[in-house]
Amino acid sequence: MVKVIFVCLGNICRSPMAEAIFSHLVAEAGLSDQITIDSAATSPWEIGKTIHEGANERLQALGIPTPKHVARQLDIEDIKADYIIGMDEPNLRAINYLIGARPSGEVNMLLHYAGEETQIADPWYTEDFDTAFSEIYRGCQALLAHIQSRHSFNQDAPSI
Ligand code: 4NP
Repeated sequence: MVKVIFVCLGNICRSPMAEAIFSHLVAEAGLSDQITIDSAATSPWEIGKTIHEGANERLQALGIPTPKHVARQLDIEDIKADYIIGMDEPNLRAINYLIGARPSGEVNMLLHYAGEETQIADPWYTEDFDTAFSEIYRGCQALLAHIQSRHSFNQDAPSI
């Protein structure tokens, strides 16, 4: 089982959007039973909250199911993930601070997988959920291609 966790500052905008989009792409690829997907915050500020309405609206508009979401903070158990994916550079610094000395796995910004060392701006501040959505979608597509190239999956798994 490959474990992926998406991380952002509050776990109500970007990382739950990434969790929903990536889950959708993984389901389309027939790999839902072989990749586990989660999301978490670097801060404790929004613990217990659901996904932001702006993020939810973009997902609904494009027919991407939104998982029942309860924001939580990254914890030491998350060190076990194979891919710990931040949205911006402060996320990477906070991941390192919260679960530092990790033995294995990849820690990168999402757009790294699309060949872009760029940060995904926080729509909590910009209110630009459309840009965040398209960047996250592009990053998730590239991340899935990267994971598929590095792990041997049972491709007979049923697709939705
Ligand atoms: P996110 O956005 O990191 O994409 O979930 C934020 C959500 C909440 C806050 C900041 C960023 N906040 O300050 O509460």
